[in-house]
Amino acid sequence: MTLIYSILAISIFVLLLCGFIVMTGKLLGQSGEIEVSINQKNEFKANRGLKLLEVLAANKVYLPAACGGKGNCGRCKIKVLAGGGYLTSLEKLCLTDKEQSDGFRLACQIKTRENIKINLPESMLLAHSFKAELVKIETPAFRIKTLHFKLEEGEKLDFQAGQYVQITRSLPWENVIRAYSISSSPDLENEFSLDVQLIEGGIMSSYLHSLEVGTKLDFCGPFGDMSVDDSSAYNEHSILLLVAGGVGLAPMRSIVSSLINKGFKGKLVLLHGVRSRRNLYCEDEYRSLMKKHPEFEYIPVLAEPSLEDGWVGKTGLVTETLEEWLNSNKEGLPSAEAFLCGPSAMMEAASTLLRDKGVAAEHIHSDPFSF
Ligand SMILES: Cc1cc2nc3c(=O)[nH]c(=O)nc-3n(C[C@H](O)[C@H](O)[C@H](O)COP(=O)(O)OP(=O)(O)OC[C@H]3O[C@@H](n4cnc5c(N)ncnc54)[C@H](O)[C@@H]3O)c2cc1C
Ligand code: FES
Repeated sequence: MTLIYSILAISIFVLLLCGFIVMTGKLLGQSGEIEVSINQKNEFKANRGLKLLEVLAANKVYLPAACGGKGNCGRCKIKVLAGGGYLTSLEKLCLTDKEQSDGFRLACQIKTRENIKINLPESMLLAHSFKAELVKIETPAFRIKTLHFKLEEGEKLDFQAGQYVQITRSLPWENVIRAYSISSSPDLENEFSLDVQLIEGGIMSSYLHSLEVGTKLDFCGPFGDMSVDDSSAYNEHSILLLVAGGVGLAPMRSIVSSLINKGFKGKLVLLHGVRSRRNLYCEDEYRSLMKKHPEFEYIPVLAEPSLEDGWVGKTGLVTETLEEWLNSNKEGLPSAEAFLCGPSAMMEAASTLLRDKGVAAEHIHSDPFSF
């Protein structure tokens, strides 16, 4: 009898304790629901204590998140008008003082603890999720695969040349998100391609390299500001310089084909720097494009050509060749536009060089692959 009373007493105590914890949690704002408002119109409810980035995605608002929510790419930056709590140490590192005082935050670092009001540019609301099937695989260069996808029936992907999509791979311990630039032209209907470089031990790139034709994947996008949209903004005096390192050629492929398809009349120069010939791709395609389109100039540069490469073209760093080109083509540089994609060091060097040679800083566009 005493045993039954003891068990009963303990059970009641445990129940009271649970109730107390839940109540305290509610009072302290750890459970229940909060309201999220976007641009003072879209409102929805969300559970407390979740990452805002995930809450937004669950409500079909997809933000760029190239680092997968680790707080170091800075791409999920949003303006918070009310709520959001204190800045985390990662946000203090990632956001400038001005951004911090203007109310910018990283959506992946905000927990939904109180009602929150945010502002997003309308362009950010265009990203959506979509499914596509892998229909063709090519291996254009060492460790690079071009994956061709076909959108599922009823799906749409309107993007501008130079933009990227995100892929999420769900692992038991985390959701891995990675960004990949679209390498095909936006003119293709219901199709797009990605150039993926295999990174030793890379979670996503090794997974993508292991896929077989017929696999269906979930994507979201498009994202990215490094894009060419309206070719009517260009005329025969326009100069566009595209500087790519390695697989950084991916967004440039999209830009080149989009501009050529639209009848671009200005000067379009593509410099592609790689280590050796086995890393070079699209060489034949671009050499023959140059013959058909005199406005297009293609300059491949090998950093370390081997004897077997039999290379007679440019060698060294792609930025050295860029400097030579800039020195012998000074006219029109202040109004030239430049697009850079590749390793951070190359992009920084190219950007400094372009500014030194007179290209306006606001005309230099880039989307670093690293973060
Ligand atoms: C906007 C944007 C666009 C991108 N577009 C493309 C694209 O078109 N094609 C493409 O292949 N990649 C692209 N990337 C890079 C891509 O998102 C991944 O970072 C890359 O595929 C590595 O992911 P992973 O999961 O395989 O490697 P992880 O598991 O993240 O990394 C494994 C290890 O490799 C290191 N590592 C990661 N990346 C590199 C690298 N590039 N070189 C050397 N070591 C590395 C990591 O530090 C880590 O130690 C893009 C990135 C951004 C931000
Ligand atoms: S996803 Fe938030 S900083 Fe990268």
